[in-house]
Amino acid sequence: MSTPSRRTAPPAAPDTVILAAMRSAGETGASGAELAKQLGVSRAAIWARIEELRKLGYDIGASPHHGYVLRACPDALHADDLHARLGGTQVVGREIRVFKETDSTNDLVDKLAHDGVAEGMVVFAESQHQGRGRLGRRWLSPAGKGLWFSVLLRPNLSPMAATQLTVISAVAVSRAIERETGLRPGIKWPNDIMFGTRKCAGILIELSTEIDHIRHAVLGIGVDVNLAAEDFPPELRDLATSLRAEAGREIDRPALAAAMLRELDYVYARLREGDFHQVGDEWMRRCSTLGRRVTLKIGDRTIQGVAEALDDEGALVVRNEHGHVEQILGGDVTMQR
Ligand code: BTN
Repeated sequence: MSTPSRRTAPPAAPDTVILAAMRSAGETGASGAELAKQLGVSRAAIWARIEELRKLGYDIGASPHHGYVLRACPDALHADDLHARLGGTQVVGREIRVFKETDSTNDLVDKLAHDGVAEGMVVFAESQHQGRGRLGRRWLSPAGKGLWFSVLLRPNLSPMAATQLTVISAVAVSRAIERETGLRPGIKWPNDIMFGTRKCAGILIELSTEIDHIRHAVLGIGVDVNLAAEDFPPELRDLATSLRAEAGREIDRPALAAAMLRELDYVYARLREGDFHQVGDEWMRRCSTLGRRVTLKIGDRTIQGVAEALDDEGALVVRNEHGHVEQILGGDVTMQR
């Protein structure tokens, strides 16, 4: 697969530079004079930015000897901070927007895609009024408790191979969760991220296609990060879980958000380089569906069989009850005991 042309990322915002400098300086502190020089502004202008960051909830110490020390960050998503944590990616997260609330981040990104925005744009919302899941289901998105975001991609793929996007996204989400929490979730085909029989994250990919290629893909990701059991409606309590419930501690949402974007950028680079197999193999190692007896519902059709493998296009290979092999690209899977 060829590498599509890339537009360069916009220059880093002053707050991104300041936050990144404080993070890398640690206890030593970032010098106000050096930041002023780097950004081509006065020390007073740096001080003014520090005051603004404090208003956003960043706990920043200042001393004439140590400069500015970042002591603590708020549990809130800020685009400049996410950029500072990312430190540059190839595609995913070149531009980031954060909204306090919206209907659905997938709708926002789809609109941006139709306006011609370059791939890699990421939109987060602290809450969604009309978050949606696969198969027309509603997706619960309470304020400040999870990660609800969408990524715009313009992959050089045929619509038939779109399942590859599902596969790489599930791997990226699993890797980010593992990196930030130490927990190892499983993947239930096609893209549910699970702890045992409970789901903690889901992926909704929506495509705009021509007959032979994908014009753009909106990758919508929802992660139940810090929800408590009572945040879920009673009918979901046996089916859903959160990372906080699994880890037994509060999870750092901004750090997890940055890890998600970093991992998505990594797997998308593998896909662009024509190296889907590497990520596909990792998906198989992480998948809890393979080797199991499954029931698949695809529209009105129900198939029973054994999930045997993932094929080159990212489809699930199922040997049905008559011994025939079927290639499954969509639908809902239930695992049998
Ligand atoms: C699923 O497992 O059914 C997919 C859930 C996807 C939810 C995310 S949250 C961000 C984005 N915006 C939406 O409306 N849905 C996706």
